[in-house]
Amino acid sequence: MSIFPLGLRLEGRRVVVVGGGHVATRRAFALVESGADVHVVSPAVSDSLASAIGRGTITWHERAYHCGDLDGAWLVQTATGVPAVDDLVADDAEARQIFCLKGGDPERATAWTPAVARVDDVTIAVSGGGDAGRASALRDALATALQTGDLPLRHRTHPRGLVALVGGGPGDPGLLTARGRRLLAEADVVVFDRLAPQSVLAELAADVEVIDVGKQPDHHPIPQEQINALLVDRAREGKVVVRLKGGDPYVFGRGGEELLACREAGIEVEVVPGVTSAIAVAAAAGIPVTHRGVARGFSVVTGHESLGELPRRGDHTLVMLMGVKRLRSTADELIAAGHDPETPTAVIERGFSPDQRTTIATLGTIADRASDAVSPAITVIGDVVSLAAATTGSVGVRQTS
Ligand SMILES: C[S@@+](CC[C@H](N)C(=O)[O-])C[C@H]1O[C@@H](n2cnc3c(N)ncnc32)[C@H](O)[C@@H]1O
Repeated sequence: MSIFPLGLRLEGRRVVVVGGGHVATRRAFALVESGADVHVVSPAVSDSLASAIGRGTITWHERAYHCGDLDGAWLVQTATGVPAVDDLVADDAEARQIFCLKGGDPERATAWTPAVARVDDVTIAVSGGGDAGRASALRDALATALQTGDLPLRHRTHPRGLVALVGGGPGDPGLLTARGRRLLAEADVVVFDRLAPQSVLAELAADVEVIDVGKQPDHHPIPQEQINALLVDRAREGKVVVRLKGGDPYVFGRGGEELLACREAGIEVEVVPGVTSAIAVAAAAGIPVTHRGVARGFSVVTGHESLGELPRRGDHTLVMLMGVKRLRSTADELIAAGHDPETPTAVIERGFSPDQRTTIATLGTIADRASDAVSPAITVIGDVVSLAAATTGSVGVRQTS
């Protein structure tokens, strides 16, 4: 049977769903998502439909179907599970020239819904030649390929350029988001940092311009203003510029400054959050930053400078990024400010790399125990650290993954 594929604009248009079971529920929700004015006709409805009806997103006609129900409808879905009723709906729809979705009956259905996935602004709709399983498998494969960037969409046009501030996660390419990967696959220019997951750069097409603005600790080769200007200039050439950063762009990543610089220059900006090292590197060492009964909150602070007043109880976790070189002063300052020197403390270096190393001690002893620690490293201070000691060895043990 040949079909004519079509995209329907259903916003505000009346669509009737006859039936209140699982199939009707799924379809009704999909139709609501398209903005349709959905009317369900059925003596009974599923719990999910009942909640949507309660919220006012769907109108319910609580009775059996009758012929006038299709008046004013643009489309009807029938899924009552009663063949005689579904046939009647299909006949009425035919007589009124309304397309009818009628699952499991290709002879009487006048419309089919494909297997659908949405990836950003792209809609994938697959018809499997009557085989729903085949359609779903193909749809999933295409959606995954688009999300991961395996199927690049490099020719999306941004005539006025685009800057995407992409959080690259803590170094493991598996922790870069699907959206970040997709933007990388579309990029004309990639501007990356020292802590960005650099292995993904090898996957870029040969003509992508790759610019390293990586900062070493205490050594800033490219000033921030120049990085901002670089992003703006390339975007003004109509290019898709991905600014690939370690962790999350807004956690000590200067993402906010880059966003403002681009906005001030009238450049479109997309921000893609990333998995921050503050949480992920702790997790890689077996430390949950919160844990029921142990820690009820956490603070993420920079270790570059004096920490000032911070919550002092062990049930509030402190995560310190950077500043591993001034660990001794930091620990001394915290103890002088009233933090318990016995608070379990961990330094985790090079998280997610083969050289990841965790040093567990107390606030009073960590500076000695981790005196040779190197950047990048995070320091975690709080009772949750003892959970790692429980799984990875006792306090005082140094561990390399
Ligand atoms: C300039 S901050 C950037 C933080 C980043 N935006 C984030 O959300 O993770 C750099 C600091 O993040 C921490 N860091 C980032 N990646 C790390 C990793 N793989 N292992 C340990 N620490 C890491 C270190 O404290 C490092 O000095």
